[in-house]
Amino acid sequence: MCGIIGFIGKNVKENLVQGLEKLEYRGYDSSGMVILHNHNFFVEKAIGSVEKLKEKVKDIEFDGIGIAHTRWATHGKITIENCHPHFSSDNNIAIVHNGIIENFEELKLKLEKSGKYFYGQTDSEVIAKLLSKRLTINKIKRLIGKIEGSYAIALISKNNNEIYFAKNKSPLYVAQGIDCSLIASDPCCFVSKCDKFYTIEDGEYGKISLNGLEVYNRNGEMIEKQAQQLNFFFKDTNKEKYSHYMIKEINESKNVLVNLIKRYQEKDIIKKLKGINIKKFNRIYLIGCGTAYHAGLVGEKYLKERFKIDVFTRKASEFFYQNDVLDEKSLCIFISQSGETADTISAMEETKKYKTLNVAIVNTEYSTLASKCDLVFPICAGQEKAVASTKAYFGQCLVLYIMASFLNGENFIEHLMSFKKDFDFGNDNKIMQLADLLINKNYIFFIGRGFDYITALEASLKLKEITYIFSYSECSGELKHGTLALINQGIPVIVIANDEKCFNKTLNNAYEVKSRGGELVLISSIDIDNEIENNFEYYIKIKDCESDLKPLQTIVVLQKLAYYTAIKKGLNPDKPRNLAKSVTVE
Ligand code: G6P
Repeated sequence: MCGIIGFIGKNVKENLVQGLEKLEYRGYDSSGMVILHNHNFFVEKAIGSVEKLKEKVKDIEFDGIGIAHTRWATHGKITIENCHPHFSSDNNIAIVHNGIIENFEELKLKLEKSGKYFYGQTDSEVIAKLLSKRLTINKIKRLIGKIEGSYAIALISKNNNEIYFAKNKSPLYVAQGIDCSLIASDPCCFVSKCDKFYTIEDGEYGKISLNGLEVYNRNGEMIEKQAQQLNFFFKDTNKEKYSHYMIKEINESKNVLVNLIKRYQEKDIIKKLKGINIKKFNRIYLIGCGTAYHAGLVGEKYLKERFKIDVFTRKASEFFYQNDVLDEKSLCIFISQSGETADTISAMEETKKYKTLNVAIVNTEYSTLASKCDLVFPICAGQEKAVASTKAYFGQCLVLYIMASFLNGENFIEHLMSFKKDFDFGNDNKIMQLADLLINKNYIFFIGRGFDYITALEASLKLKEITYIFSYSECSGELKHGTLALINQGIPVIVIANDEKCFNKTLNNAYEVKSRGGELVLISSIDIDNEIENNFEYYIKIKDCESDLKPLQTIVVLQKLAYYTAIKKGLNPDKPRNLAKSVTVE
């Protein structure tokens, strides 16, 4: 979480603001910037979105050098004091930081004993207080010898014309344009300013100026970096005709399907798919966080249906505590939109010592996760800007479907083409009417069996993420083992029932809810008669398709339900509270 940007060149303020706007997906609790002007620091900070900071700096016109930050609070409340940039005690050095300094309390204590005053509560302020006077490469080397944890840091001083930097476990990229130099948490900030960029690796540090880039490795040796092309992925996107990125991105799910059909017929991807010798493995682990974890659960079903192999889905943050068997016969599939989620990366690092085959399913192919896995499979969803993941989930599930089908010798293209032909985004008016029924509720339950239970988990997560309504998902059959105690008059229970085989059982579970006063909503691809329909307050018919793809056909409707409920509650679904798109802390 948190995003950092540094810029040297003309219109520094505008470029910093533009960068922050692009990085807002990483956090938007507060933001701040510092610009070096006539050997003095011009500083501005604001609580809330970057828009607030933009307003405060609207009359500033400087050329030169500056760094800026958008924050997702981890240590210390959302206050101006805790807002970055942070400053050395002599006020000569300014820093912005993304990550967590794990030994900050110990360092802070020492610094306080030596007379240093701390104005805030953040771990990041410690970095600034460890420095004074002017920056040099040796000072950065000494600094990273003292701090532990994750960091992408950009630093400037009143006496230098460069931006210094250091990186460990948090993403950091640098780039040089014709008349500017940049540093940022995401290469998307470099669009239209340069066409190549450099990825800074863990343990590396250095400085960038208009004259060039200097990078040093852990051993203090100067190294030559290879430039990467800034490709179409980073193309600037806007909301077009939509009022929010979230609804635009849900509606882009079909494009993801089209992209994947095309991309997964290309030679390099086929070669990678063939690189997974499924017979070699005894067990498969699918690992991710949040929505990506739910995609893993869907993938688990695809794989189990087809192969007689143990398949387990793990929440990345829990992976360490499972004591799972890991060896060369284990296939680990890491799923992540950003490829920067700290827990997922840590889990992947842990598997390395067991010589597992590590596969990444990511949207961002230049990400840390992608760079460290043996095989990388793209989701081809294009940039996802809304914080709550929608089209990326769709793409993750599809890639898992393709992988399982390919490894089983099925013609996945044919299946996906027919899915595409009949794909249905649902009737927005009907979904909005259902949203009307939900906006004033305090609790909402989702139930389902098999695939539908996974869809219930994801639908429930989406709803709570952006509407702040308490939402809980349960397997239909488990309801009677406790959760029914929570059902009383007027509590909505959304029943997802796409599977003919267990439809009647799920209906019976629904009726158990109804007899306790619950309000039933049915989401189903199965044709029902009036007698059944009369038991439900509301019914949304899902377009029928092959059973493996029903979770995808259903989730777009439930993503829209979350979206419209948020809109009707007057909330901004693109920027939900207490959530960041890229969670770079464990
Ligand atoms: C955060 C985001 C979610 C996302 C999860 C995993 O919680 O807000 O939308 O599903 O992280 O992120 P990843 O980038 O690894 O898919």
